[in-house]
Amino acid sequence: MTWRDEFPLEKGLAYLNHAAVGVWPRRAARAACAFAEENMRRGAADYPRWMEVERGLRQRLATMIGATGPDDVALASNTSDALSIVAQGLDWQAGDEVVIPAGEFPSNRMAWEALADRGVRLHETNVARDDPEAALMEAVSARTRLMSVSSVQYATGLRLNLERLGRFCRERDIVFCVDAIQSLGAMRLDVDACHADVVAADAHKWMLGPEGIALLFVREDLRPRLKLLRHGWHMVERMGDFEARQWRPAASGRRFEPGSPNMLGIHVLEASLSLLQEVGLANVERMVLDRARRLMGLLESAGLEVLTPRTEGRFAGIVTARRPGLDAEAHAALYRRLMAEGVICALRGGIRFSPHFYTPDAALSRAAALAAEVRP
Ligand SMILES: Cc1ncc(COP(=O)(O)O)c(C=O)c1O
Repeated sequence: MTWRDEFPLEKGLAYLNHAAVGVWPRRAARAACAFAEENMRRGAADYPRWMEVERGLRQRLATMIGATGPDDVALASNTSDALSIVAQGLDWQAGDEVVIPAGEFPSNRMAWEALADRGVRLHETNVARDDPEAALMEAVSARTRLMSVSSVQYATGLRLNLERLGRFCRERDIVFCVDAIQSLGAMRLDVDACHADVVAADAHKWMLGPEGIALLFVREDLRPRLKLLRHGWHMVERMGDFEARQWRPAASGRRFEPGSPNMLGIHVLEASLSLLQEVGLANVERMVLDRARRLMGLLESAGLEVLTPRTEGRFAGIVTARRPGLDAEAHAALYRRLMAEGVICALRGGIRFSPHFYTPDAALSRAAALAAEVRP
C-alpha cells in the first residue's frame, strides 16, 4: 500500500480545507475503529499498552519539532487551551507588553487580551508589508515580555521567518511563542533553530488528526516559571501513588495535564503522524509547497487575484484568492457554490484553499477552473 491509498476520498470531492479541518488517513480511521473495538471487548485491560502508544505519540511530536524527547511534550485539549495555559501561567507585572501580528486568529489574540485586568498591554502590528518580521521587531519596547505569532497566518497564508524572530526575542529575553497550527504537519519546525519557548498546535489541521488533542511544547527552563492553574492526579511527579499527601508537579510537560488523557485522540493522532513520518516531513513540505505554488499559478492564469504572498519562503499550504470585481457578498455566494460543487474550501477574506501533500493535481485544476467560472 502506498500513501496514495491512505486517502480514499469520495469521488468528486476536491478537499482543499486542511487549514480548517484536515482529513484522516486510512490508518487513522482504522486506529479509531480498533480502539473502539478493544474498548468494547476488553475495556482497559491492556492500559499499559495504551500508555506505550501515548509515549510513542509524545516522541513523534517531539521529533517533529526537534525537541529532546517525550518529556518536552504536553498534550492539551486544543491550541486555544495551550496558549491560555501559557498566558495565564506567566508572572505578569502591570505595564508588561505583548506583541502579536494584526489579523491573528482570535485565539492568539484573546489569550493575551484576557490579561488586560493584570495591566498587560497588547500591541497588534501590521505585518502586511515587505518585511513583516521588521514590523514585529519594531513594535518591541523595553516592556515587551512576550511575542506570539502564528507560523502561518490563517487568512492570508503569510509565513513568517521564525528563526529571525526567535533570535531577536532570545537576545532580549522575550518569551517567543509560536502558534504552529497552520504549519505543523506540513512545514518543518525546529524549536532550537527558531528559539521557540512555546509551540502550540492542535492535531486536526495539517497533522491530519482528530480535534481535541494538541501539542504544547514549553521549553524546559520556562516550565517552572509558569504558575499551574489546574490540578489533579495525572500531573504529579509520582503519578499513580494515590496515597501520597506530598506531591510536586512533574518536571516534564505532563505538569500541564491534570487528569486522564484523551486516549482515543492519542491512538488516532499517533497513526496519522506515523504516516507523515513515513513519507518524511521534508518530502511532505516539498509536496505541500509544490501544490500551493501550482494552485497560485492556476488561479492567477484563470484571472483570480492571489492574496497570499507568492515569494518563496513567504507561503506554506494556504492559498487565498479573490475574484476581481466581486464584493464580499458575492464571494460568500461563490464560496457556497464551490462547496456545493464539492470543492471544499473556506471563506477568509477571499476564498481560502489549503491542499495537503497528497492532494491530486486534478483537485487543484478543478478548484481553479470553478473559482473562475462559477456564477456566484
Ligand atoms: C492560527 C490559529 N490558531 C488557533 C486556531 C484554533 O485552534 P484550536 O481550535 O485548536 O484552539 C486556529 C484555527 O483555525 C488557527 O488558525
